[in-house]
Amino acid sequence: MNLAVIGIGYVGLVTGAVFADLGNMVICVDNMEEKVRMLENHEMPFYEPGLEEIVAINHEDGRLSFSTDLADAVRRSEIIFIAVGTPPMDDGQTDLSYVEAVAAEIGRNINDYKIIVNKSTVPVGTGEMVKDIINRFKPSNIDVDVVSNPEFLSEGTAISDAMSPDRIVIGAPNKRVAMKLIELYSTMEKPMVITSVRSAEMIKYASNAFLATKISFINSIANLCDRVGADIEEVTRGVGLDSRIGNKFLRAGIGFGGSCFPKDTESLLYVSRKYGAEIEIIDASIRVNRKQPDILMKKAADALGGLEGKTIGALGLSFKPGTDDLRESNALAIVSALLTAGATVRVYDPMAMEKCKPMCPDATYCEELYKVAEGADAVMLLTEWNKFKHLNFNRLRELMSGDMFFDGRNIYDPQVVRRAGLRYYGIGRGADG
Ligand code: UGA
Repeated sequence: MNLAVIGIGYVGLVTGAVFADLGNMVICVDNMEEKVRMLENHEMPFYEPGLEEIVAINHEDGRLSFSTDLADAVRRSEIIFIAVGTPPMDDGQTDLSYVEAVAAEIGRNINDYKIIVNKSTVPVGTGEMVKDIINRFKPSNIDVDVVSNPEFLSEGTAISDAMSPDRIVIGAPNKRVAMKLIELYSTMEKPMVITSVRSAEMIKYASNAFLATKISFINSIANLCDRVGADIEEVTRGVGLDSRIGNKFLRAGIGFGGSCFPKDTESLLYVSRKYGAEIEIIDASIRVNRKQPDILMKKAADALGGLEGKTIGALGLSFKPGTDDLRESNALAIVSALLTAGATVRVYDPMAMEKCKPMCPDATYCEELYKVAEGADAVMLLTEWNKFKHLNFNRLRELMSGDMFFDGRNIYDPQVVRRAGLRYYGIGRGADG
């Protein structure tokens, strides 16, 4: 099929590349010329494992192209995906101005019947709003249908998530459109859930909010474990083996970040309040998450007798491993808070340091991971990159001037850390120090 994807962000680029890989002709459109030029040279605008390869192959084979010409892409495509950003506003509601602008442009340039598919995460009712805007600008003899087809890919595993999703949600206004989308996705051979447009929009928010709440729930249990002397890692093993609960998204730590969970929970809460059906549990999970970095900060301040003048080594900056994304990163929030408290912070991250430098110029950036430990009173693990999983704690300890290790993601066996003469502090591991 001939497809256009408007918006070359995470979702747009991965969606475009994957559809091209499945044999479709895809034009990815963005209004930033620089981005388009970079992609034509196979330079990625962000780091995502496997993305460069799939973009290069499909671009060279002529199935994937990049353009700033939205009008041309609209005219040449049967299905047009909207994948522009939907950033949060100060009060939590979703800023739909990019979606609105794209809808108006589609309306102005439409030359034939088209299916418009919303891939961006948008509040319930946006599908109808998009259709209204297109109707306002398009010639009256041309028809459009608007579908909601939310994306469930995670950063770091985006290609495999998009190629092989657990389910494909298609919120279609009628059977004919649903059939067209089913045909597009049929090669993936995955379960498809066909719903109304509004239900599909809600599925996306409900999924992200549920996962975020699972994390805040387990972090709350972890904080109680600290007080009562239980170990959250033992507790989650016991809880997670209940097949009704499952062990995914039950990892306690410094809290959730990224461009999705914080924004989507805020947006769902805003909408629920607007409709007089406040989801109080979402309010609670947001509040728990905001406080979670402070748990590690307080442990460090108490153990070190204050943070001012101390040297802290920090491993990890990105909001999770496998990405250079720093948006709403609790790792970065902790580094910034340590600096504000008067500490010297020596940082290392495998991918995110260049992006971080302008945002956090006062940190000391180390070119090698063990360098964070040089002269450090304490070292903190903030993002659980694979290369941090098998640290040589003896080497770390020798380089440090102090003996404290803070494991913000509970990835180490406390006994292994302690054997190197370090004091171990985790999240909810019961016995600190
Ligand atoms: C999330 C969802 O997982 C995707 O399904 C969804 O498509 C995407 O948002 C989106 O809406 O676009 P992502 O933000 O890339 O994906 O990252 P996750 O892997 O979900 O992690 C989010 C945050 O939760 C990270 O900061 C991670 O460290 C934290 N987390 C995750 C925990 O603290 N504990 C866990 O057990 C799992």
